[in-house]
Amino acid sequence: MILKNKDVLGLEELSAEEILGVLEIASRFRAVFDRPVRSVPIMRGRTVVNFFHEPSTRTRISFELAEKRLSADIVNFSTATSSFSKGETLRDTAENLAAMKIDMLIIRHSSPGAAHYLAKVLECSVINAGDGAHEHPTQGLLDIMTMQQRFGDLRGKKVTIIGDIAHSRVARSNIWGLNKLGAEVTLCGPPTMVPGGLARLGVNIEFDLKKAVAGADVLNVLRIQLERHSSKSFPSNREYHRMYGITEDVVRTLKPEAIVMHPGPMNRDVEISSEVADGPRQVILDQVANGVAVRMALIYLLSGGDPGALGVGQD
Ligand code: CP
Repeated sequence: MILKNKDVLGLEELSAEEILGVLEIASRFRAVFDRPVRSVPIMRGRTVVNFFHEPSTRTRISFELAEKRLSADIVNFSTATSSFSKGETLRDTAENLAAMKIDMLIIRHSSPGAAHYLAKVLECSVINAGDGAHEHPTQGLLDIMTMQQRFGDLRGKKVTIIGDIAHSRVARSNIWGLNKLGAEVTLCGPPTMVPGGLARLGVNIEFDLKKAVAGADVLNVLRIQLERHSSKSFPSNREYHRMYGITEDVVRTLKPEAIVMHPGPMNRDVEISSEVADGPRQVILDQVANGVAVRMALIYLLSGGDPGALGVGQD
């Protein structure tokens, strides 16, 4: 069995073996994308509910595509179209879903711990699609898969995460996952956005962008999460871009094989220039494609799918 628990709530809870096992399965599903028929009948008769209590483009569509490609029955609901807007609680919502006998719940919520709460009260599997500034495990996995495709074994690879670390669930999931796989993680951004306390997670902290990118194999560039700011953490977008924006000038100082990643959505010409976002170093759309494969792998494994049936462990 690759995954030990019924839920995937964060990379903090997954072991290195579980992460590598999921990514092995994801790479098998990724190979299916190039076939004329991309769906497999593995989840026929199972019901997955996608509950997005926060806006999303990539994660929501990617989960839905993953479920469709596994032939699951899908129910989508969002805050605007549910009785949340009439004041119903998360607990009551969960109990109603349980009564309808669903097989899996995918949840994105603005409150850290919302996915953990539902995982406790529901018998079915829960996948965290992002909970506040806490974790975004499927994004962490797809980021790691994209790095593996370029570099293979990530032990000793240098990954610099740049931007609004304080408000980023993507940063936290990357830190947990990359540390477990032996990569060296450096965090960089304005001091107002990079809490010194994160050093206890075993990462380097560097406020000087030039020093942070020197020798890096990967730059993972993050958006400023304005929706989670209670006060202004930087003078202006222009100032941020001048100090921490990833531009052609920054990219020219990188190692020849270094790659530039971004989880999206991007604020072009704030944290990343359009030239870099569309340039030869970026692997941003590879990240998006890998996201579908990672989500297929998790849904498959949590539904009791047999890794051997995909040829995993038989090479
Ligand atoms: N990367 C990511 O989570 O994007 P969405 O908010 O569009 O899902």
